Amino acid sequence: MRLSRMVLALALTSSLAPLAAAPVVAKEAKIVTEAEARERAEAMLQRMTLEEKAGQLVQYFDFGGATVANPKATAVNIDAAIAKGQVGSMLFVTDPVRINALQELAVKKTRLGIPLLIGYDVIHGLHTIMPVPIAMAASWDPATAERGQAVAASEARAVGINWTFAPMVDITMDPRWGRMVEGAGEDPVLGAAMAAAQVRGFQGGAIGTPGHVLSGPKHFVGYGASFGGRDYDEVDLSENQLRNTYLPPFKAALDAGAGNIMSAYMGLNGVPAAANKWLLTDVLRKEWGFKGFVVSDANGVDSLEKQGMAGSPKQAAVRALEAGMDLAMTVPSNPSPMLSLIDAVKNGEVAESALDGPVLRLLEAKYRLGLFDKPYVDPKAVPRTFDDPAHREVARIAAERSAVLLANAGGLLPLDRAKLKSVAVIGPLGDAGHDMLGPWVFSSNKPEGVSVLAGLRAKLGVGVKVEYATGTAWPTRKNPSFFDAMNKPGEHPAIDEKAELAKAIALANQSDVAVMVLGEAQNMAGEFASRSDLKLPGRQQELLDAVIATGKPVVVVLVNGRPLSLGDAKPGAVLEAWYPGSEGGNAVANLLLGDVNPGGKLPFSWIRSAAQAPYTYAYLPSHQPGSADKRYWNEDNSPTWPFGHGLSYTTFSYGKLAVDRASVKLGEPVTVSFDLTNTGKRAGDEVAQLYIHQRVGTSSRPVRQLKKFARVALAPGETKHMQFTLTADDLRYWSAATKGWVQDDSAFDVWVGGDSKADMATTFTVAK
Ligand code: NOJ
Repeated sequence: MRLSRMVLALALTSSLAPLAAAPVVAKEAKIVTEAEARERAEAMLQRMTLEEKAGQLVQYFDFGGATVANPKATAVNIDAAIAKGQVGSMLFVTDPVRINALQELAVKKTRLGIPLLIGYDVIHGLHTIMPVPIAMAASWDPATAERGQAVAASEARAVGINWTFAPMVDITMDPRWGRMVEGAGEDPVLGAAMAAAQVRGFQGGAIGTPGHVLSGPKHFVGYGASFGGRDYDEVDLSENQLRNTYLPPFKAALDAGAGNIMSAYMGLNGVPAAANKWLLTDVLRKEWGFKGFVVSDANGVDSLEKQGMAGSPKQAAVRALEAGMDLAMTVPSNPSPMLSLIDAVKNGEVAESALDGPVLRLLEAKYRLGLFDKPYVDPKAVPRTFDDPAHREVARIAAERSAVLLANAGGLLPLDRAKLKSVAVIGPLGDAGHDMLGPWVFSSNKPEGVSVLAGLRAKLGVGVKVEYATGTAWPTRKNPSFFDAMNKPGEHPAIDEKAELAKAIALANQSDVAVMVLGEAQNMAGEFASRSDLKLPGRQQELLDAVIATGKPVVVVLVNGRPLSLGDAKPGAVLEAWYPGSEGGNAVANLLLGDVNPGGKLPFSWIRSAAQAPYTYAYLPSHQPGSADKRYWNEDNSPTWPFGHGLSYTTFSYGKLAVDRASVKLGEPVTVSFDLTNTGKRAGDEVAQLYIHQRVGTSSRPVRQLKKFARVALAPGETKHMQFTLTADDLRYWSAATKGWVQDDSAFDVWVGGDSKADMATTFTVAK
């Protein structure tokens, strides 16, 4: 079985064809259908007491006693609480033996034997780490994201996790926000495609597919638009922004079958998301018809007190419940506020029947996941899943497909192996296997990462000298985060910076080429990792300038999750590797040496400085369109690289752009066609992108909007005839003027090309 899986992966690697769904898992259990699950959940509900119902609405972190936030606090005794039926779900536990023990308490010690939902942040892998989600988005290849998350799901399910708090589908136009790394960037169409693909990867064909987990898109909604890019700060978004940009990826994730959704922490337009009825009931349930369950973010219900929406834990629970919350995620330094609903019902503050909907939805999830039939896992089987070589293969291919070649002046890349005698690997990320993994990777799951140094050495063998110099140190973090405590391997030893800089320059001088691995350490991105500037951290800029000054060819490999400024430096080439995951160094080596041709594209506009944020290519036309890039007194506001940008070792040309009909009626589709040719000498992938602009409307429409894209593999000299069909849905939008969805009659501009600045254009008209 294992061998055949590996052979399958290897066979498919040699072509660029998408791999078949990666982890093949024996279909031992039959899937419980939605209808069956509902029937069984309803029968169970009839048997439940008020106390048992309230218990199902409780989820606790398992920190093994004391809490991270307050190590000395008298924590809730988790085991006793489960045995008393006061817990429906646990999170942050990955040890299969402990998970089995928790399940056993729930199944054997409680009257009704209801198993637990076990949730975890499986964001881009558990043991085998995939590239971070922003990287997967940069592949512009939903199949890559789907395969990666299917592997992640299989490793999670093997240890007993049955639900992931992912994908994060928050749009952001503000790279100061550290969590940009967890999402798909600034665009709703790319974001929606990536959201749906990840849900399919996590859940498999349906909830309950063996070897898969339940998927919970988050954070509903607007978290990526926090004031100043500061994590947790409030959000004020118009309905226009919400409906047209921030909500579509959530809708796509739910349409793909996601069984859960997580509410955001922050206040949205004045009301904390966890108690926002418009959001959790009007939009989610009434408009979208969502049947799954809603979980709060960590302490999201308790925090309603701090956020000024409740005067007590009980009022917080009642307000959240009434808004549409089902399950409260709680740090167990205090009992869950949901348990105070018992008292609230007894005092007549809320009807007992208000708990029935949430309980039913949670029970349904448990039935659909097959937990009643199979609550335990086999800990002995875990290593087999973790060490499956096919998983590393999927991770490597994903890293290769995610990389973006940002600059390659004079064709420095790919490096010519035949002429290469020595390589200087320079920079604090050059020999940092752990930092390659990115955020939401925890040492307890024993993740491994291949550094760029190790990858290049393995690839080049003994014939080429590959030496390393750190060059510079990491700056000290001003405001500590609890994530630092969970990621000890991310610590960086102190060094003598002056001596290291001199060593790096000397090494560059002795080598044929300098490969500088720069960017942000693992904990500089993710939650609680917003930054007020986009400069290279510490003295990396100085190091870069000094190495360029040696006159040696310089390739910069960036490891990060947001745009970073390279100042005025003009290295020969810049390869954006992101946090590429477990196989990062091997993937980078393949890309630098040309065994793999980069084909990724930017999922956000690469602004030059934080002062430009928030920024999107899809802005509304102003009364003075000619000066759109000249808005600052002291500098232009165009980005360094536009949304959708990415180069290749080959070249592409676009031609023969046409629409099938110059004029269509409202509701009718229009098909845009063009030829895409590989005009170079290497095989390569191009991401063809189609943008539109609606000239006149009920509301003003963005200067450009991505509507379609396709990643296409082309042999040298090959031409493919491409077609994209724009339907009425693609042309519809939510109008702030009419407060509803509209399709307007208007002329439309269409551009097709390799980035958001594409200039090959045509038009069509939609008539009444
Ligand atoms: C807080 C984060 O905002 C959320 O994304 C995560 O899923 C939970 N903590 C649980 O770790």
